[in-house]
Amino acid sequence: MRYTTSGESHGRALTAIVTGVPAGIALDQARIDADLARRQSGYGRGGRMAIETDRALILSGVRFGSTIGSPVTLTVANRDWDNWTDVMAVSGEPTATARVTAPRPGHADLAGIQKTDSADCRDILERASARETAARVAAGGVARAFLAEVGVTVASFVASVGDVAMEAPADPSAVDPELVEASEMRCPDAVATERMKRAIDAARADGESLGGTFYVTARGLVPGLGTYAEASRRLDARIAAAMLSIPAIKGVEIGSAFESATLPGSRVHDEIAWGGPRGYYRTTNRAGGLEGGMTTGEPVVVRAAMKPIPTLMRPLASVDIDSHETIDASKERSDVCAVPAAAVVAEAELAFALAGAYLEKFGGDCVSDIVAAVAAYEARIAP
Ligand SMILES: Cc1cc2nc3c(=O)[nH]c(=O)nc-3n(C[C@H](O)[C@H](O)[C@H](O)COP(=O)(O)O)c2cc1C
Repeated sequence: MRYTTSGESHGRALTAIVTGVPAGIALDQARIDADLARRQSGYGRGGRMAIETDRALILSGVRFGSTIGSPVTLTVANRDWDNWTDVMAVSGEPTATARVTAPRPGHADLAGIQKTDSADCRDILERASARETAARVAAGGVARAFLAEVGVTVASFVASVGDVAMEAPADPSAVDPELVEASEMRCPDAVATERMKRAIDAARADGESLGGTFYVTARGLVPGLGTYAEASRRLDARIAAAMLSIPAIKGVEIGSAFESATLPGSRVHDEIAWGGPRGYYRTTNRAGGLEGGMTTGEPVVVRAAMKPIPTLMRPLASVDIDSHETIDASKERSDVCAVPAAAVVAEAELAFALAGAYLEKFGGDCVSDIVAAVAAYEARIAP
C-alpha cells in the first residue's frame, strides 16, 4: 500500500491517491476527519488553523463504507483558497507582490529556487509547506483502517517541547490515548502540558519558534514483519525513512537506542520467554519491537525529534535573491510550535510502513484472506 499526494499550501485543494488497497476494509470517513482535526490541533499553531476545518472527500475506491480493491482518492479542500486566487492563479501573469524574494533559513526556499531555476521562493514554499501533511493524514486513514482489521493500533504523544520534557514513561506504547487527546499539547502529563504552553507563549512573545520530541507507537503486531534479508526492506529502516519524510523531523530513535548505546549488552537486549497466547514473548522491550529489520511481536516504539519551525516572526538574516543585499527572511503566517501535529502525521507514516509490511507477508487482494492468513500464521508460531 502506497500513497502519493499533490497540492500546494494555498492552492485549491490537496489530493492523496492510495494504491495497493485490499478490498473489504471498513473505512469510516468520520474517523479520517477526526485524525485531520487532531493534525490541526495543538497549542502553538498559526492563524490558519482557525480558518480551516479539514474534511476528507473520498472520490474513489470505496462503496458503502468498504474499500473495493481500487485506488482510493481523497481530497482536502483549502478553505483559504478564495483569498489566494490571484497569487496562485493557474494562468496569467504574477503580480509583483506575489513574489517571495527573501528565502528563509531552515526552509526549502533557497535550495529549491537554485535547483529549479525559479525567481520566486513561493514556487517552492507552496509545496514544501507542511500543509501537504493534511493529505498524508487523510491517506493514512486507509492504512489505519487496514491495520484495525488485523488488530493493530497506532498512537502518539508529545514528550517534550523546547527544554520542557515530561518524565519518559516506562512503556510509551501503553500511554492512555484519552489523556493525550485531553491535553492541548497531546502530552499525557498535565503538569508538563502547562509548562510546554508557557514555553510556547514565551516563544511567541519573543518572535521565536520551538521544536520538540514525540513518541509514535504500534501495538498488536505479529512478529516477523519486514526482513533481515534485504537492506531496503528492513522494517526499522523503512520506519526511520518514513519519519524523516515528515518536514522538520531530523532525528529518529527506535526503542531506547541512544540510552542503549551507553550500556553493556546484558542491560540492553530483551530476554526471550515462552507462555500465554502469543507463545514467545520478551520480558522487556528496549529494542522498540524491532530486531533484524523485523517486528518482534512487542509494541513498536519510535521517538522522533522535530526542529524548531523555520519561519520566525523575528526573522534571521537572509539575502534578497534580486539584489543580493542582506535582508530579513520572509514571514508567512506560521506555527510557533507544531510538535503535536507532527506526531499525528507520524502516526499516518507508521501506519503506512506497517500496512505495507503486512501486505508483503500476507497478500494484498482481500481483507478476509489476509485476516485468515494472519490467524494461520499466529496459530503456527504459538501452537
Ligand atoms: C505539522 C507541521 C507543521 C509545520 N508548520 C510550519 C509552519 O507553520 N511554518 C514553517 O516555517 N514550517 C513549518 N513546518 C516545518 C517546515 O515544513 C519544514 O521545516 C520545511 O519544509 C523544511 O524542511 P526540513 O525542516 O525537513 O528541512 C511544519 C512541519 C510540520 C510537520
